[in-house]
Amino acid sequence: MRVAMIGTGYVGLVSGACFADFGHVVTCIDKDPSKIERLERGEIPIFEPGLDDLVAANVKEGRLFFTLDGAEAIRRADAVFIAVGTPTRRGDGHADLSYVYAAAEEIAGLIDGFTVIVTKSTVPVGTGDEVEAVIRKANPNADFVVVSNPEFLREGAAIGDFKRPDRVVIGVNDIEGETGARAKAVMSELYRPLNLNESPLLFVGRRTSELIKYAANAFLAMKITFINEMADLCEAVGADVQQVARGIGLDKRIGSKFLHAGPGYGGSCFPKDTLALVRTAQQYESPVRLIETTVEVNDARKKAMAGRVETTLGAAVAGKTVALLGLTFKPNTDDMRDAPSLDIAQALIAAGAQVQAFDPEGMHEAAKLLPDVKMKANAYDAVEGCDVAVIVTEWDRFRALDLDRIKLLMKQPVLIDLRNIYRPDDMARRGFKYSGIGRG
Ligand code: UDX
Repeated sequence: MRVAMIGTGYVGLVSGACFADFGHVVTCIDKDPSKIERLERGEIPIFEPGLDDLVAANVKEGRLFFTLDGAEAIRRADAVFIAVGTPTRRGDGHADLSYVYAAAEEIAGLIDGFTVIVTKSTVPVGTGDEVEAVIRKANPNADFVVVSNPEFLREGAAIGDFKRPDRVVIGVNDIEGETGARAKAVMSELYRPLNLNESPLLFVGRRTSELIKYAANAFLAMKITFINEMADLCEAVGADVQQVARGIGLDKRIGSKFLHAGPGYGGSCFPKDTLALVRTAQQYESPVRLIETTVEVNDARKKAMAGRVETTLGAAVAGKTVALLGLTFKPNTDDMRDAPSLDIAQALIAAGAQVQAFDPEGMHEAAKLLPDVKMKANAYDAVEGCDVAVIVTEWDRFRALDLDRIKLLMKQPVLIDLRNIYRPDDMARRGFKYSGIGRG
């Protein structure tokens, strides 16, 4: 199959490279010349484990191309994917769909022969209808179908998630009709290399598919927020949240994943998508109150995390030096979007603390967002001379720190572990004043 992928952001690039690896011929299109130049040189603009090798191998095999001018690729494509950004619109929290509609306009004039237009970007319910209307208006005779195919890729594990997904959701209207059936055939062929016994293709209506994406993210965000509140309750009553999570997670109806208590969820999806779902639901006068509360609780949690430094120290942070270990919203990414570290660092600085930090991949971006934080070359430099160290992101390298060395380097051995990667009894034995999340 021939695929045109509009947008070489996170989702477009990973999806394009993976479809090429499935054996399809993929052209990735972007309006940003510097991005295309970098990609053509083999430079990957984002940090995602395995993506550089995957791109290089498929470029070499002649299945993966990058271009500024997508006209030819779109004309020849069996499927054109729209994988452009849908950021939160300033002011009202709705998703900004201007890039999606601009892509639809561009595609409209280029459709040549039966073409499936696929929205991969996370778009509010009804956007597929709009995309269809835009194309139909611009090119009334075009032979096309608009399909929704949301992504469920986790940053840091995106290639595995693409190639071994729990399911692939595909939204096609009127699937029994002639064009619906043709669209189904194209989508089935695109995903044929998946082991379909393990990764079913779920064909549903287009609006249903659009909603599944938001419902999945909102549910996961709610699950995390639930365990975070249980963690607070554990601290109040003297219980251990990790045991609570295990105790409930073994119940198959609940499941053990996404029950790690922490500083609150961040990233490019959960904060944006929960807010957009809340707005859609309000617009349709069918409010999703659980998700409204989830958004509020999570925002408040991220802001409150800095307060733990004072409670652990038993003193004001003004004049103290605090080390932050990890800045990205989660490990194995360089993404700083809505990272809890931003709220934590800003609150500490506002309260008069000096903050220094180390992150394996995120410091370049973090330095722009947190100009008052001193970036250090490694975890040991970051903790040197500090009154307290805070583990904010659970990078693997923070799981095996030389704790004796840390203790010697710090002014006093106080460690706040917002990801519960160490054991309280072990830390006490090593002479640390230690505080985790939700552990009695
Ligand atoms: C998420 C979804 O998992 C993915 O399916 C969707 O397509 C995009 O959004 P991502 O944002 O990359 O992926 O990261 P994820 O691993 O889901 O983590 C999101 C946030 O939740 C992170 O801040 C993480 O630290 C936090 N989290 C996750 C917890 O605090 N506890 C958990 O148990 C799991």
